[in-house]
Formats: sequence, structure tokens, C-alpha cells
Amino acid sequence: MTQASSDLMDAAIDQLFRFDPLVVATTHAAMAQDPEAFMPGALRAYLGLMASEKRDALSGVRAVGGRAPRTDEDRAHAAAIDHWVAGDWHAASRILDARLAEAPTDALALLVGHQLDFFLGEAKNLRDRAARALPHHEGERRGYVLGMAAFGLEECGDYEAARSAGMAALGSDPQDVWAIHAVTHVNEMQGRTEAGVAFLEQRRPAWTRDTMLRIHCTWHRAIFGLEQMDHEGAFAALDAVLTGPDTGDTALSMADAGSLLWRLHLDGVDVGARWSRMADAWAAKDPAPWYVFNDLHALLALVGAGRLDDAGQRVAALEDMVRAPGGNGTNWLATATAGLAVARGLVAFGRGDHAAVVRHIAPVRHQLSIFGGSHAQRDVFQRTLLVSATRAGETALARNLCAERLADRPDSVWSGMQLKALTPLDP
Ligand SMILES: [Fe+2]
Repeated sequence: MTQASSDLMDAAIDQLFRFDPLVVATTHAAMAQDPEAFMPGALRAYLGLMASEKRDALSGVRAVGGRAPRTDEDRAHAAAIDHWVAGDWHAASRILDARLAEAPTDALALLVGHQLDFFLGEAKNLRDRAARALPHHEGERRGYVLGMAAFGLEECGDYEAARSAGMAALGSDPQDVWAIHAVTHVNEMQGRTEAGVAFLEQRRPAWTRDTMLRIHCTWHRAIFGLEQMDHEGAFAALDAVLTGPDTGDTALSMADAGSLLWRLHLDGVDVGARWSRMADAWAAKDPAPWYVFNDLHALLALVGAGRLDDAGQRVAALEDMVRAPGGNGTNWLATATAGLAVARGLVAFGRGDHAAVVRHIAPVRHQLSIFGGSHAQRDVFQRTLLVSATRAGETALARNLCAERLADRPDSVWSGMQLKALTPLDP
């Protein structure tokens, strides 16, 4: 690789650690500086793959063009990209772990592997991949790896270690938005709503500037608000940021917006024309199964907009994929294990058949991590199950679900309200 291209790659990786959207332009500049080198093309492919949509994955991989892998580093990344785009995200993850065992300072393998652990819902590797890398990094990058470890610790339920790692990361770079996000998750999981709001408000400039986590952190701020019954705040976040003019209709930002709308919907709040705009945006996307986490969020919008026929077609496409002979791959596994059951449950919710929602979702409620995302993101489906259990008169299940939620978050207003809505226990 030419020196100029190598320097640009270093800058791009630093931008990726900071979730700086300039990483896209810097990657293209690195590609232009050396049209033969493989790694700038690999980074471009990863940016497409990490968008979580097939269209972006394919365009990212096409951009690699005729760049041939020549070194061990090139070959490892080429294999990871090939497996990911072919649908075996787990193999890509393992290849990146093997690469890190050989080259523990390969920051790109760490960054991409960390996002893959998130997409795969593999909490332990989310924690351990970062923990294994930590001794091999120093200075500012060590701080960013601490922020990654913080998120993994949080998803593993080790909240105090997560908070401490996240705060240490913020000691290294107070603008580290991934560390801000990790500590925010800790506050969310511990039901520390006021502290969570104060933490985010104190650091507002860091996550509202131009960062790839602006929309997602806005979603986190809004769900703290919902816990305080701040519906107007949720609408303001939706209209100004989550579905705002510069959102760009990416699946990940639409998932956050739809998930917030669904929480309002579960609370009986009228969201106006927002559902139909969101359903239109999902309908404009390729409906072929690629990542069931996105399909489930498309279903929230379709069901929310009352388009049950379109939602049914989406579920039928998932059923066809699961039943097709020789089914395999990461999305097949996630869909067959839990994704399809949740999809069927969401359509049943739209029909008002709450007993069917329980029948579909209750058996898989402990398996939802297989389709990726965070506990906080998947909570929208757990809330759906609880609301349906109550509406279906499945009081014992509803009571148990409330008890579990309140054990984790004793001060949760929402969970307390769900418990109150149940008929009192006999004396
Ligand atoms: Fe999050």
C-alpha cells in the first residue's frame, strides 16, 4: 500500500473508533490513493456490510473491484467479507477472531468484529473480543477499546464493571460516543431513568454533533423520556431527528424510529400519520430476507399502519426462507429459532389476537438475542408480549413478566403501571 493510502487508512480507522461519518470519505480517499491495495477496498466493503442491508452489502463488496488480496492481513479480511456477504456472518466473526489471535493490534478486525458480535447478539464475545484486545492497545485507542468492553460487559449484565470501563473510556476521550452509549445502556438496564437523562444531557454536545450514533443516542434519550411519560419529547425526537430530513432512511435508523413508535402504540398513544410514512419507507426497500432484526422492525411499521396484508406477505417470505430445502446461514438460524415466531406474533398483535401473540412469542422469549441488537432494542418485543398477555387474560404470565422486570428495575414506572393494570391477587 502506498504511504499516502496507509496514512488515510489509519485516519479512517480512528474515525471509525469515534463513529465519525467522515470515515466514508476518508475510505474513498484511501482507495483513490492506491487503486491496487486490498485493505482500503476491504474497509469500503465493511462499511456496506455494517449498514445491515443487502443492497449496501453488495455495493460495498462490488467496490472492492479488482483489488486482489496479497498479504495475510488481506486474505483474512477477504475471507471474512466473502463469508459475511454469502450469509454466514458467524464464519466472518470467527475469521476476524482468528485474525486477532494472530495480529491483536488489527484495529479494523476488532472494530468490525465488535459490530458483528452486536449484529449476532453474541454478548459474551462482544465483551471478550474487546477484553482480549485491550492489553494490545495504548493511548487514545486503548480508551476506545475500553468503551467497547463497557458495552460488552453491559450486555452480559455486569453493570458496575461496564460503568467503570465506560467512565474510564470517557476519561481518555470525553467525546467517545460509543462509551457514552455503553454507560447509557447501563442506566437503561438498571432502570436509572433520572440518572440516565442527566448523564445524556450533560454530554449532549458529544452525541448530537455529526456522529453515526446521533440517531441512536436520540432514541435512547427518548425512551428514558417515555419512562417519565414524556410523549411530547418522544414526538419531538421522532420528528426532528429519528425521521428527520437527514435520516436517510437507513434500516438501522428506521428500526429505532419504529421501535419508539411501537412503544407509544403499546401505551395507547395516537402517533398520527407517522406509521404510514414509516411503512412507505420500509415498503420501498428490498423485502427479501437478509437480516431478520430489520424485518421485525419493518413489521412494526406495517402492522402499526394497519397494512396487515403487506405484513402477512413479509411473514410468508420468512416462512418460505425457513422451509426452503438446505436452509442454513446466520439469518436462517435467527429466523428459524426466534425471528419467525416474533414476526407471527406481531401480525397477531395487529389482528388483536393477543392469545396468539402469547402463543408465538412466549416460547422464544429467552432466545431473542439470536436475532441481534441489544437488550434495550429487543425490549420492544418483550413489552409486546407483556401487553398481549394482559389483554389476553393470561394474568399469571403477565404477572411473572412484570415481576421479572421489576426485579431488574424496581423503580420502572412503565413496569409498575403494567402490574397495576392486572387484576389484584386474591387475598
Ligand atoms: Fe443502544
